[in-house]
Amino acid sequence: MEKLTYEESYELVKKEIQKALTGSPRIINDYLTHLSASQGKMIRATSVLICAEDSEGKIAPGAIYAAAAIEIIHLASLVHDDVIDNAHLRRGQETLQKKYGKRTAVICGDYLLSLALKMAAAIPNRKDYVDIDLPDYISRLCLGELLQHINNKNLNLTVFEYVKIISGKTAALFEASFLAGAILGGCSHEEVKKYKKIGNYVGLIFQLRDDCLDFDKTIEQAQKPVQSDYEQGVITLPLIHALERLPEFRKRAFDGNIVREDINRAVEEAGGLDYTRYIIERYYKKAGRCIDKLDVTEKKRRQVTTIMDKAAGKKVEI
Ligand code: FPP
Ligand code: MG
Repeated sequence: MEKLTYEESYELVKKEIQKALTGSPRIINDYLTHLSASQGKMIRATSVLICAEDSEGKIAPGAIYAAAAIEIIHLASLVHDDVIDNAHLRRGQETLQKKYGKRTAVICGDYLLSLALKMAAAIPNRKDYVDIDLPDYISRLCLGELLQHINNKNLNLTVFEYVKIISGKTAALFEASFLAGAILGGCSHEEVKKYKKIGNYVGLIFQLRDDCLDFDKTIEQAQKPVQSDYEQGVITLPLIHALERLPEFRKRAFDGNIVREDINRAVEEAGGLDYTRYIIERYYKKAGRCIDKLDVTEKKRRQVTTIMDKAAGKKVEI
């Protein structure tokens, strides 16, 4: 098959995902059709496609399957995550677990994973498929989520452990997206390593930003629950910073004497969001230095930077 433009590829990824969801067997069709009604930001798919562009901006068709597979893995993880977090809203609509129950949602998440693996198996070149090693990234995703679960309500969580959690639960799939794009774009081994590193930084930036959203956005802006991480026992960087900076607040937290307003006040007083934004900026600069070293056209360098800007929550259009 011939190579395609970015726009053509993006449309095909959307089509493949829709086809996989809405063309599913009758018994599961209602559930997956419900999910297909809201498609999300597609930032992982965009990452695969942009990283796969050659010097003329053209993309090999294998990247379409990789992008669709990664988006479906992401969707599967969100369906399960909403069960774990007891969330009622995702991408602006009712979650599967709220609408149809937790058991149904768990099974649908599993089924989505099978769809993603089938999609990935359509990557035409066997070596590319093996080198992308999606099962290993799925393992990392699960282990990150498990580490977060083990640390549920752990007010002693360190910044180091927090970064380990988000490296697994979020950065792994971003790394997979950049790696897949680089491999399917025919990059050398050395070049692929650079993309992997950038993908990892972009994933960390994305989750750090997401953890700020829980504090500084409304449910309408986020299109998902906010002010809810602590309530679910999930301890994130803005709060870790406040616990480290404010001994009295820390003591009250350990005594179980805090409510949401106390947390928001403490995060505000300790500058927890500013600190998190400062860490984002540090990763942003590190990734920027790697992007500078990529052997690409200036146009592609700008596109990769734009993905990172999106992850960081800066207002941009791709
Ligand atoms: C959202 O985090 C969730 C993740 C980034 C990963 C969840 C992973 C699993 C449930 C492991 C199972 C994986 C598969 C492939 C089935 P969040 O709760 O911080 O973000 P949110 O605010 O968007 O919910
Ligand atoms: Mg969640």
